[in-house]
Amino acid sequence: MAVAAPSTIDDVFGRPLRDLRISVTDRCNFRCPYCMPAEIYGERYQFLPKDQILSFEEIARLAGIFASLGVVKLRLTGGEPTIRAELPTLIEMLSGIEGVEDLTLTTNGYLLARMADALKKAGLQRITVSLDSLDEETFKKMNGRNFGTRPVLDGIAAAEKAGLSPIKINCVVQRGVNDHTIPDLAAHFRGTGHIVRFIEFMDVGTLNRWDMKQVVTAEEIVARIGSVFPLEAVTPAYRGETALRYRYADGKGEIGVIASVSKPFCGDCTRARLSTDGRLVTCLFAAGGKDLRAPLRTGASDDELRSIIRGVWSKRRDRYSEERAGISGSGTGKRGRRKIEMYQIGG
Ligand code: GTP
Ligand code: 5AD
Ligand code: SF4
Ligand code: SF4
Repeated sequence: MAVAAPSTIDDVFGRPLRDLRISVTDRCNFRCPYCMPAEIYGERYQFLPKDQILSFEEIARLAGIFASLGVVKLRLTGGEPTIRAELPTLIEMLSGIEGVEDLTLTTNGYLLARMADALKKAGLQRITVSLDSLDEETFKKMNGRNFGTRPVLDGIAAAEKAGLSPIKINCVVQRGVNDHTIPDLAAHFRGTGHIVRFIEFMDVGTLNRWDMKQVVTAEEIVARIGSVFPLEAVTPAYRGETALRYRYADGKGEIGVIASVSKPFCGDCTRARLSTDGRLVTCLFAAGGKDLRAPLRTGASDDELRSIIRGVWSKRRDRYSEERAGISGSGTGKRGRRKIEMYQIGG
């Protein structure tokens, strides 16, 4: 039997809904100061209780509905997704959804070594691992838990062995914190087939005391790496790709730079986010989202849920990063504005 083609929706600026980033937990085993500072998220911090978190059945049902509206790419995020119990079971459920072409996950990699095989077997196609520095002292400071890099490197090796390729390595660059270690990270993964992506430090959430002075622009990052290993620009792999791509002139692979501060990419942004507690969020910098959990739990039909999602997306006019860049050259943007925290929507 022929499967009906998904109906697609465009937002106010003509951007179709194509990707869904699903946060499966608001908890994390790291305390990166730019995301979940240890002084706020201590022993007694109350994360979401279990009954407020979407179940696997609820996530899979919503993902299927999103796929019927044109979503072709699913990315699991957190907090830290690998600490959600039985994660491979969810991946298996999602991998069976009609229309999903890309199923991936962003992790800090700390528990990956023991899980990579199970994730692959469940149907995960590829993986992205965050790793802000290979310098032990810098890394310890940046994960807020004094953890070394070994478990993360072992996790990357296990992911490679399991076939979760292409593997991407995400590095958030903060001036004065880890920018001195950029060339080392590039050098380490050069020639391995893994793609390191350097991310401009963003003003996500309300807790990271963001300041434009801490941003190392993509241009500077490319210049710094290029002075050691000559680079050439590569055309984007797909419309709306977050990263600008560069390849090493000697053929030893490629890197990416995510220039969301200096060169915002809102114009092609096709990403929706589903928070851990079931809110549909239409921008990384949104103040909140549309609750889908209540209708889910009070018996809404698939058609009713589809119509809620359609209503939200068709009214979407988010373009925060472009507005931030436009408001002031200094990039301080809309200070003091309410914003959802990074760990609730996984970046
Ligand atoms: P690929 O599918 O491999 O291209 O990955 P991705 O870049 O879509 O996802 P990933 O989780 O690796 O995100 C990398 C960085 O880009 C993170 O810091 C995200 O917060 C940031 N990012 C992802 N999507 C958006 C977005 O829509 N807007 C902004 N401003 N940043 C984003
Ligand atoms: N700016 C840029 N990237 C960030 N991430 C977390 N907080 C920020 C920030 N303020 C990154 C994580 C991970 C990805 C999902 O988002 O390190 O790689
Ligand atoms: Fe955890 Fe990622 Fe936030 Fe770091 S950035 S605290 S690893 S969710
Ligand atoms: Fe999309 Fe918002 Fe990021 Fe712009 S700032 S690219 S609209 S998520």
